Amino acid sequence: MNVCFVTSECVPYVKTGGLADVAGALPAALSRLDPDIRVKMFLPLYDRIPVFDHGFVHADDLGELSVTLGDDVVPYHVWYGHLPGSDVEVYLVDCPRFFHRGTLYTDHADEARRFVLLQRAAFDIMQRYAWSPDIVHANDWQTALMPAMLRHAYGWDDRFRHTRSVLSIHNLAYQGLTDPHYTWEAGLPAERALPGGAYHHDGAFSCLRAGLVEADQITTVSPTYAAEIQGPHLGCRLDGVLSARRDVLTGILNGVDTAHWNPRTDVHLAARYDAADLSGKAICRTALLEEFSLSAPPDVPVVGIVSRLAEQKGFDLLVPDLEEVLRTRDVRFIALGSGAPWLEGFFRGLAALFPDKVGLFVGYDEGLSHRIEAGADAFLMPSHYEPCGLNQMYSMLYGTLPVVHHTGGLADTVTDLHEHPGRGTGFSFHDARPEVVTATLHRMLDTFQEKDIWRAAMRRAMQQDFSWDRAAASYVQVYRRASN
Ligand code: ADP
Ligand code: GLC
Repeated sequence: MNVCFVTSECVPYVKTGGLADVAGALPAALSRLDPDIRVKMFLPLYDRIPVFDHGFVHADDLGELSVTLGDDVVPYHVWYGHLPGSDVEVYLVDCPRFFHRGTLYTDHADEARRFVLLQRAAFDIMQRYAWSPDIVHANDWQTALMPAMLRHAYGWDDRFRHTRSVLSIHNLAYQGLTDPHYTWEAGLPAERALPGGAYHHDGAFSCLRAGLVEADQITTVSPTYAAEIQGPHLGCRLDGVLSARRDVLTGILNGVDTAHWNPRTDVHLAARYDAADLSGKAICRTALLEEFSLSAPPDVPVVGIVSRLAEQKGFDLLVPDLEEVLRTRDVRFIALGSGAPWLEGFFRGLAALFPDKVGLFVGYDEGLSHRIEAGADAFLMPSHYEPCGLNQMYSMLYGTLPVVHHTGGLADTVTDLHEHPGRGTGFSFHDARPEVVTATLHRMLDTFQEKDIWRAAMRRAMQQDFSWDRAAASYVQVYRRASN
């Protein structure tokens, strides 16, 4: 089976969030699962990807290529390599005019057009190599036009006659709303993007909606989120489209790439450990506290946060009460994140008010994210919605009990310790209201004093199986359904 996997970010090359973790792990898991599955991945060459460090070579056999976008002939080059430790072939689309913008995503007027180029180039490269995929697997709005292009822009090409498409939704809230004019450049029927058309949404051409109506199969990254997006609360006004397509919609929980996230082998840690011997975790905790010039005896819990500071993540729920919690309880918070200035400001304010209790790094730091997962006792993720969420899974595997809102993938992975005392792996709350989050934090802080209960939960959490192999097998079933 040939799979064309198209994504806007991928570990270890470039990452802003969980999509990169998924893209770096799922294709490799697919080819591990079945040597007959051959994956070619397509990704933009952003200015921040050091091609030579990652062993890419320029595809001299292709030379300079171009895609015609409307009146504009856009030249590009291709770099070729392999995803580390796998057979997955990676093709980087090198077009500085489109992808050298300092950041991966922009608010520039041509944002959707940048990804139209990526998707057209992916088809172009497949044609030049005379490669016929059985499946085109697209991810989020940036590559959601692939299914529509397959039907319309490239419907004439016999090479793709048997190709079927799968669209994975990692976050329904980002839809790629743009000017209907771009249908022309994408080679799609213009009337579909106009009012009343299948690609029209919120007065614009919605790249995501085009994918939702055209893909042969749709997946999202947890079973609970698959159900939630069919309702008005989390459906982002696409719930009607999604429930109409529920027969082809599957929720598949993401996995954890244990090559990167494993306390036994993690190169970022001061010491390594496992469920049988937790002494290394105590060393990581001390090292983490020292890194932030904090100290805490073993009976004072350290709560970690690693997150994009976006509205989705629910940190607004902490605003009314966290100051009071810090004033009245002996606890440490160590937070890593960046994003909305007002949320950065909120955390900066707390760090200034409680220099002995709060450690903060505003920015992005891969190594620190691992050190927090290992060094913290608990991990806070109060997301309003969470399609899957990876950090709660990383936390559990590192013996760090997550405190989460019971939604999406958080609901599918974290079992509340008080609702299910014999099975609990963390703390979860059902109502995303500040007073409920605060009560859950107090519940966690109290439970931390009950050492036997806490330790047993840690061990259960560390023994969870979040393997990508299970998820990869489910994706193969979806590919088969798409092909039938
Ligand atoms: P999302 O994709 O919505 O941001 P996920 O939980 O799926 O949420 O994935 C987030 C990923 O990004 C995790 O691997 C997390 O460790 C990482 N991450 C988020 N913020 C930072 C940061 N400031 N520094 C380092 N890693 C971060
Ligand atoms: C999105 C979601 C997150 C999910 C990730 C990978 O960024 O917000 O919940 O884990 O994609 O699928």
